[in-house]
Amino acid sequence: ITDALQWAGWIWRGSVVWDKMTSRPQKGRFRQQSEYVVWGSNGPMPVNRPVGCLPGVFRYANPQNRIHVTEKPLQLMRDLVKICVPGGRILDPFCGSGTTVLAARLEGYEAVGVEVTDAYYKLGSDRVRFALKSHAELDNAAE
Ligand SMILES: C[S@@+](CC[C@H](N)C(=O)[O-])C[C@H]1O[C@@H](n2cnc3c(N)ncnc32)[C@H](O)[C@@H]1O
Repeated sequence: ITDALQWAGWIWRGSVVWDKMTSRPQKGRFRQQSEYVVWGSNGPMPVNRPVGCLPGVFRYANPQNRIHVTEKPLQLMRDLVKICVPGGRILDPFCGSGTTVLAARLEGYEAVGVEVTDAYYKLGSDRVRFALKSHAELDNAAE
């Protein structure tokens, strides 16, 4: 991924850790307890842009009711998208069930997702549409 990102002309900035906390123990093996988030930018990222100091390790359990086998926790993605300037645009080229797109929209970003599998494209799009509609209805009810 780091090679692909740079080949595409982006700047690879680093990696952060998602600690899933729980994972199946495997005798004679390390637990597969973490995943790595490669991140980069399409162009410069001045340090004086309005983005705070973010952690390098994020601890969230796997979602319980997944519609994608490798679905990420929504709160993890809501935390991660904050690396982008407020109101910026987030790209997830491997969108799956749309967690990144949903997280980005809930945090006030624009979002573009790409998904090659028709079934996941449909599931992810429906999920995002439904969740944003419910969110808007809750907001309206609170006003
Ligand atoms: C690890 S899953 C993403 C899961 C997602 N983060 C979520 O929370 O649901 C990766 C997804 O990328 C899709 N994918 C694989 N190769 C792709 C490609 N070349 N272009 C677009 N999507 C692709 C797969 O179908 C799969 O749904």
